[in-house]
Amino acid sequence: MNNATYRGVIIGLTGIGARRPPESPQMPIYGAMPRSHAAAYYRHPQTDLTAVCDIRQEALDTFRTDWQDVWPDMHYYTDYREMLAQEQPDIVSVATPDHLHADFTVAAAESGAKAILCEKPIATTLADADRMIEACQRHNVLLSIEHTRRWSPTFLAVRELIRSGQVGQLRSIVSSLYSQRAMLFRNGTHSIDMLTFFAESNPAWVWAELEAGFEHFTEYTGDGGHDPATDPAASAYIHFENGVRAFFNCIKIDMPGSQFELICDGGRIEVSDRGATLLRGTSHYEWARSEIPVDDYMYTYQIGALAELVHTLENGGELVSTGQEARKTLEIMLAILRSHHQGNVRVNLPL
Ligand SMILES: NC(=O)c1ccc[n+]([C@@H]2O[C@H](COP(=O)([O-])OP(=O)(O)OC[C@H]3O[C@@H](n4cnc5c(N)ncnc54)[C@H](O)[C@@H]3O)[C@@H](O)[C@H]2O)c1
Repeated sequence: MNNATYRGVIIGLTGIGARRPPESPQMPIYGAMPRSHAAAYYRHPQTDLTAVCDIRQEALDTFRTDWQDVWPDMHYYTDYREMLAQEQPDIVSVATPDHLHADFTVAAAESGAKAILCEKPIATTLADADRMIEACQRHNVLLSIEHTRRWSPTFLAVRELIRSGQVGQLRSIVSSLYSQRAMLFRNGTHSIDMLTFFAESNPAWVWAELEAGFEHFTEYTGDGGHDPATDPAASAYIHFENGVRAFFNCIKIDMPGSQFELICDGGRIEVSDRGATLLRGTSHYEWARSEIPVDDYMYTYQIGALAELVHTLENGGELVSTGQEARKTLEIMLAILRSHHQGNVRVNLPL
């Protein structure tokens, strides 16, 4: 067994990059689930964080305040190129605004890093996604895109159930995402990524309608999530090459929530962050419901992503959230914009 310690760095120090979750005083090591890249490096026994970077001094100061007791010797940078050159990290986390992922990822791949964990969506243009994937392939670097549910035991259990054939062939998926912060690029990317995760196929064509008021929204510039007025809700149909019919419905309403319905020949599965249920209908009036058992995982979400990178560096294998997978999600989101702009028409892929 290899017990090497992998030296990590983080670029971008807002919540997802840097948050320190509250800990139970009784369980200082295993009490809290990491919900940030920094917390994941802290929790994984084979990773350590040696440096962090942000252009905002305030973000660096906050990080120092939050993590001083864990990393008193942390190195702080405002220039990511300087950090990569000085630190020569093994793993680089990219947690900056979406339209900036590409430059940091390419620079990290060229710096000699072994693996990159980049926030979702992979990028805002296919050209950027392609140069990220290409740079990582050229330099033999693992690229994982942090579409968080890919390391969720619940979602993995549902995919395993479908793969097992016990519920018959997957025919259709309905994804619903709602809240006043339901936005195509900010959190819709997670839902659409789950469509490709379950469909296990390439998207073939798309039609869509954006939220009213976004008639001239033809390009996403990258700064999604801060203001819902800059990132539209959307409804879309995605047809996959293997015939799976997927519906994405994202609506800005007060009630928060996200759920998926997977319609298979032999049953229907409801899955969300709250669990997964299998429904088998014997008639229109009787539906037998059963909870889908979910395995225990030591590492999930961000630490699951990091643990998978460490495991793959040491043992080889395919990542669950590759650049190519995340590129499909980006292509679908860009096709949604194009369909709407052209009058809600069918858009064939590849774009
Ligand atoms: N996986 C998830 O559930 C999840 C949740 C939240 C955000 N995200 C993703 O994380 C990323 C960050 O989101 P955010 O809203 O916190 O972004 P943000 O716009 O607040 O930026 C993040 C940080 O990057 C820093 N930054 C910008 N340019 C930089 C540069 N040149 N060098 C170093 N630092 C730089 C900013 O100062 C900021 O502190 C986005 O891609 C977002 O989609 C993912």
